[in-house]
Amino acid sequence: MKPEHIHIICYSPTGGTLTAARAVASRYQGAIVTETDITSPSFSAAETTIPDADLVILGTPVYEATVPRPAVERLRQLSCSSTPAVTLVSYGQIDFGSALIDLEQIAAAMGLIPILSVAAPAEHSLSTEQAPLGRGRPDEHDRYNLAHLSPPASPTPVDRQLLPSLLPRGSARVLTRVPRRDLQLCTSCGLCAQRCPTAAIDISTLAIDSSKCLRCFACVKACPEQARSISYTIPILVRWFFHRYHEKERTPICYLPAGSTLKDLPTWLL
Ligand SMILES: Cc1cc2nc3c(=O)[nH]c(=O)nc-3n(C[C@H](O)[C@H](O)[C@H](O)COP(=O)(O)O)c2cc1C
Ligand code: SF4
Ligand code: SF4
Repeated sequence: MKPEHIHIICYSPTGGTLTAARAVASRYQGAIVTETDITSPSFSAAETTIPDADLVILGTPVYEATVPRPAVERLRQLSCSSTPAVTLVSYGQIDFGSALIDLEQIAAAMGLIPILSVAAPAEHSLSTEQAPLGRGRPDEHDRYNLAHLSPPASPTPVDRQLLPSLLPRGSARVLTRVPRRDLQLCTSCGLCAQRCPTAAIDISTLAIDSSKCLRCFACVKACPEQARSISYTIPILVRWFFHRYHEKERTPICYLPAGSTLKDLPTWLL
């Protein structure tokens, strides 16, 4: 029996994860889809009701090979009934590291039953025209693939590739600066401050508290005037590194959560 009610729970500063989660949900035509957005720092678990659903899709991006800290903190506050869950990470074409395994564990701690894990390639948050990586993804082709996933052939992997593991810890902070604001272009609309997942932007001065800035660049993507921008500390290194991954063809892949087998998958799932 196909799910009649799907609930998406998502942390998605620049929208790639949410697009991928919605594409997975679109597989079940006619199902009612509801969404809980945990991206905003004003999210309050106490004021959030998770409706009963037949399937939960739990989505986060990959930050430095794992689940971003604010997402972990917000998900830990939620408890769900024993609903089957698709755990989904979107990643910027490099490597998803231990993020899928970590998200499966978080889902289980929330009371969910992980039944399928999905890794979805997306545009890298640090991607720009000078150093492009996965621009525009998940695109139409990715969304089609996410809505037509094949049954998983292997368990969720835990291994890390060598090259990404050589990057310094906190590499996004090392390789990029706090987003600048062009005072000529800025209209002081405040949208960037509203979109910041860590409340790093002061709503009245629009200044950024560097210690709170994750370099997610949600503020850059949200600005309607292109007044905020990404700048690299070592542009040549980012260009070289992204170029290595730019040509690789990444497609959405699904896996069996740790400890489960193909027999555990509900027949309607895939
Ligand atoms: C701080 C930071 C660290 C990241 N680390 C990785 C990584 O380890 N591997 C990877 O492939 N992409 C990485 N990315 C890219 C994001 O996983 C990717 O852009 C993701 O789709 C963003 O999701 P969103 O659009 O829902 O915010 C990182 C992005 C940021 C901001
Ligand atoms: S200020 Fe930093 S944390 Fe906030 S949206 Fe911009 S890049 Fe992300
Ligand atoms: S979203 Fe852009 S225009 Fe609006 S306050 Fe922020 S920087 Fe200025």
